[in-house]
Amino acid sequence: MAGNELTFNDNEFIVSKTDTAGKITYGNELFISMSGYTEDELLHAPHNILRHPDMPASVFKMLWKRINDKEEVFAYVINKTKENDYYWVFAHVTPSFDSRGNIIGFHSVRRKPNREALSVIQPLYRSMLSAEKIGGMAAGEKKLTAALDQMKVNYDEFILSL
Ligand SMILES: Cc1cc2nc3c(=O)[nH]c(=O)nc-3n(C[C@H](O)[C@H](O)[C@H](O)COP(=O)(O)O)c2cc1C
Repeated sequence: MAGNELTFNDNEFIVSKTDTAGKITYGNELFISMSGYTEDELLHAPHNILRHPDMPASVFKMLWKRINDKEEVFAYVINKTKENDYYWVFAHVTPSFDSRGNIIGFHSVRRKPNREALSVIQPLYRSMLSAEKIGGMAAGEKKLTAALDQMKVNYDEFILSL
């Protein structure tokens, strides 16, 4: 893999917020320093500024569906920094609501993932990614569904068991 892996401490959290379209509206200090960008470069930028090519598109599709359906979602994500380094996170992404229950934005709090979890996630993502390269998004989703079916768990059970 290109670039160096960056890490952070177990007791640290990488936090960002977006508007409803996924443009960054806030990042904590660690979010900014890990990214390699300045706060000015990050604010109002689409969150895919950190997108790493090893992430299957179908993971983000599922993530957006969940949060637009007013649900929370957990996901393992590899991010790419401005210098083309990378770092893995375990993200908890949630919608934020106004007093009427309308979505006004999204919030992600990320912890350091454990290595055993990544040893399960990395081969899964690799297989989803190669399926997507041949059969597009639907093929990636199918890989994930097949893996979950084989383990007889749903996505949440799987992701929270790692
Ligand atoms: C609150 C929030 C946080 C997000 N954090 C990340 C992130 O850290 N890295 C990332 O690649 N995408 C993140 N996304 C997803 C991006 O918006 C985007 O869907 C993803 O990067 C894929 O980009 P693409 O759809 O342009 O291919 C986040 C979305 C939301 C709503």
